[in-house]
Amino acid sequence: MLIFAAKLKKHIMAGNRTFTMLKPDAVEKGHIGAILEQITTSGFRIVAMKLTQMTRRDAEKFYEIHKERPFFGELVEFMTRGPIVAAILEKENAVEDFRTLIGATNPEDAAEGTIRKKYAASVGENAVHGSDSDENAKIEGDFHFAGREMF
Ligand code: RTP
Ligand code: MG
Repeated sequence: MLIFAAKLKKHIMAGNRTFTMLKPDAVEKGHIGAILEQITTSGFRIVAMKLTQMTRRDAEKFYEIHKERPFFGELVEFMTRGPIVAAILEKENAVEDFRTLIGATNPEDAAEGTIRKKYAASVGENAVHGSDSDENAKIEGDFHFAGREMF
């Protein structure tokens, strides 16, 4: 019965949180307020949030899955060059809905009205990160926040 209850809770909770970063380009250009406004008016609740800067080691670990890609060095350089806003967001179907809200990786391919379409300059400097799965949302949120920082 206990196991069933735990599984049911996991099922109900699954998919309701994602992790985001407003990347250094967005922060440099003064877009924090506008982007957070779009995120919250789109139905996401901010569960955790901070202004922080990733070290080289942080960025290499965070983007480890891309380490063999040709753009890895550039990506680490970019993500460490200034402060970011890290946040955990809550909404039903959070991961998928947030990826829809931010738009395609390359702003040229991003749908009209999406955050990347509005604020991203290029495929490399694309304003915002969104987790790509529930599993990664949890890993990435835990990477940036202690339990007592989540509300
Ligand atoms: P993110 O993880 O930041 O939310 O972006 P994403 O899922 O849409 O794209 P992903 O394939 O995970 O790539 C991670 C980040 O690497 C940079 N990138 N640069 N120069 C390039 O061709 C290139 N491709 C990817 C971007 O900053 C991308 O968001
Ligand atoms: Mg990604």
